[in-house]
Amino acid sequence: SESKDLIYAGKAKDVYETEKQNEVIVTFRDDITAGDGEKKDNLKGKGHCNSLISSKLFEVLEENNVKTQYIQLIETGSMLSKKLEMIPLEVIARNIATGSLLKRFPFEENQKLDPPIIQMDYKNDEYHDPMLNDEITIALGIATQEELDEIRNITLKINKILSEFLKEKGILLVDFKLEFGKDEEGNIVLGDEISPDTCRYWDIETLETLDKDSFRQGQDNVMDIYDQVCSMIVDEKDIE
Ligand code: C5P
Repeated sequence: SESKDLIYAGKAKDVYETEKQNEVIVTFRDDITAGDGEKKDNLKGKGHCNSLISSKLFEVLEENNVKTQYIQLIETGSMLSKKLEMIPLEVIARNIATGSLLKRFPFEENQKLDPPIIQMDYKNDEYHDPMLNDEITIALGIATQEELDEIRNITLKINKILSEFLKEKGILLVDFKLEFGKDEEGNIVLGDEISPDTCRYWDIETLETLDKDSFRQGQDNVMDIYDQVCSMIVDEKDIE
């Protein structure tokens, strides 16, 4: 197949155009970064692993009537996706208090958050992804109140669906980050990825870290952890 133009290069993914104007190919790279891109590495096989996990979780969401950009996995590592106009929000859902929440607020470590906390950060490297409120988001023209309400509702629904699905796989969904965009008709659609790069997964029995926190903490078995969580989430027949 002929090579297609790169439309966008992120910290761990590339987006390529296709023959169809409303479809793109999202390619998961092996790069891993943390702390605003300060800490960097390349983990052979991570892109494949994240593409399989993300595809599986998008399929689970589609089966539960959540609109996602996912069309199909073309080959391991590359996902055919609907082209979206992305909204510059990092929508974070938290079921347990950990990570940056503990640095900013006096929550108890590992405190259960029920109802879950939904937090929206402005996806903007120059401003270091500051936390938003609805008024700031609307005044910046990022989204309308109706869109923010819809994004919150979809995020809560996604949290329920994924928490239940992952629980059956032996994984506690601690928190995660989503990104949304708009399709051609202006519908709010889930985009980006849902992988160990963008979620906290804990072993339901041991509460061991099964995600990018292993990299943030400087563990030396990060790729083993990604492989392990991949085999927990993805059916064996789908792992190459
Ligand atoms: O760092 P913090 O505790 O705010 O992260 C909350 C969740 O959002 C974690 O699962 C983390 O992996 C994810 N996240 C992300 N991208 C960011 C910030 C956070 O995927 N830029």
